[in-house]
Amino acid sequence: MVTVDQVLSSLKKVVDPELNKDIVSMGMIKDLSINSGRVAFTLELTTPACPFNSDIERDVRAAIASLGVKDLSLKVTARVMEGRALSLDELLPGVKNIVAVASGKGGVGKTTVSVNLALSLAKTGAKVGLLDADIYGPSVPLMLGLKAQPEVVNNKIQPPEVAGVKVISMGFFYEQSQQAGIYRGPIVSGIVKQFLTDVNWGELDYLIIDLPPGTGDAPLTIAQTIPITGILIVTTPQDVAMNVAVKAIGMFNKLNVPIIGVVENMSFLQCPHCNEQIYLFGKGGGKKISEDFKIPFIGEIPLHQQIRAGSDTGKPTVLSEPESFQAQSFDKAAKVIAGRISIIAAEMRAQEEAEAKASQESAKPSA
Ligand SMILES: Nc1ncnc2c1ncn2[C@@H]1O[C@H](COP(=O)(O)OP(=O)(O)OP(=O)(O)O)[C@@H](O)[C@H]1O
Ligand SMILES: [Mg+2]
Repeated sequence: MVTVDQVLSSLKKVVDPELNKDIVSMGMIKDLSINSGRVAFTLELTTPACPFNSDIERDVRAAIASLGVKDLSLKVTARVMEGRALSLDELLPGVKNIVAVASGKGGVGKTTVSVNLALSLAKTGAKVGLLDADIYGPSVPLMLGLKAQPEVVNNKIQPPEVAGVKVISMGFFYEQSQQAGIYRGPIVSGIVKQFLTDVNWGELDYLIIDLPPGTGDAPLTIAQTIPITGILIVTTPQDVAMNVAVKAIGMFNKLNVPIIGVVENMSFLQCPHCNEQIYLFGKGGGKKISEDFKIPFIGEIPLHQQIRAGSDTGKPTVLSEPESFQAQSFDKAAKVIAGRISIIAAEMRAQEEAEAKASQESAKPSA
């Protein structure tokens, strides 16, 4: 007679074509029971609107029939998972980690940090992408000195590349129209999602997303709908910036998005003559936030004329003056971030495995 394990391993061969995952791991098999050769269970589909539902049901029946079972009682239901962000494996199987860069308020250097970190990570040999999610005021192309009109090949946008970093920005598409848009959060998040799925990213170790500034509708909707591995918070040492950084941390904590840590930008000025470090706005603010909220402190980036000039002229400091102490502050931060991401990714994997195991267990009949 057929066993529960045989039924489950046969059903495991049925794959949801949209999600590219087997139906047992997805937790779609419920209330499985076997009684005198009669196999009964519920197939819970993810949405009644899925065009593949009848294919899945047919494959399920075939999987059970292949075990020689003649008596199958199959109930098919659908449960829409509201607001469920697809996992990264489901959405972008070639991308290992998505790092979103956020700040409580605008102008703290979020884009400068995103651009230089992406370049620093690429210098270590990692495969890196940079997605400019600032749809209203995209500044990534300017900071990279990149004027491009991306090609479309086989319905996929080909991201232009700078020093090994693949880049996409609304700026490439505003180029002709000379206008930035005013969009509400859901539209922004729709465009960002399209940038994820319609761009030929290929294999990436890190996809950095430069989020729109603040804690408004746009960054919130993106954080809710995109499978982010971790958030990097950028702040400056001034009190106002730190107060709003605290607000941003609160928002991401509520959304259950892991926080990679806090980078303090424009921390100090280094005297070009004696190398004394002058903490214009006070020392240790970013570090204190990280201690108060028990999130790692990633490092300090100095306030430096060359960082400003590099951003404004399209020659990021990490590329144009790689040996300088300001470029090295980005390189150091990139290494700390990469380490933190490995930890978060390992924790996520462990949790996913535990959940998959639990859903398999729940598919088995209780003893
Ligand atoms: N460490 C730094 N030293 C000197 N200038 C800096 C530094 N970081 C950023 N800047 C300058 O500050 C300005 C704002 O930086 P940036 O555009 O990166 O901020 P942002 O947080 O992305 O702003 P927005 O909210 O508009 O997106 C730019 O002119 C940039 O060159
Ligand atoms: Mg910006």
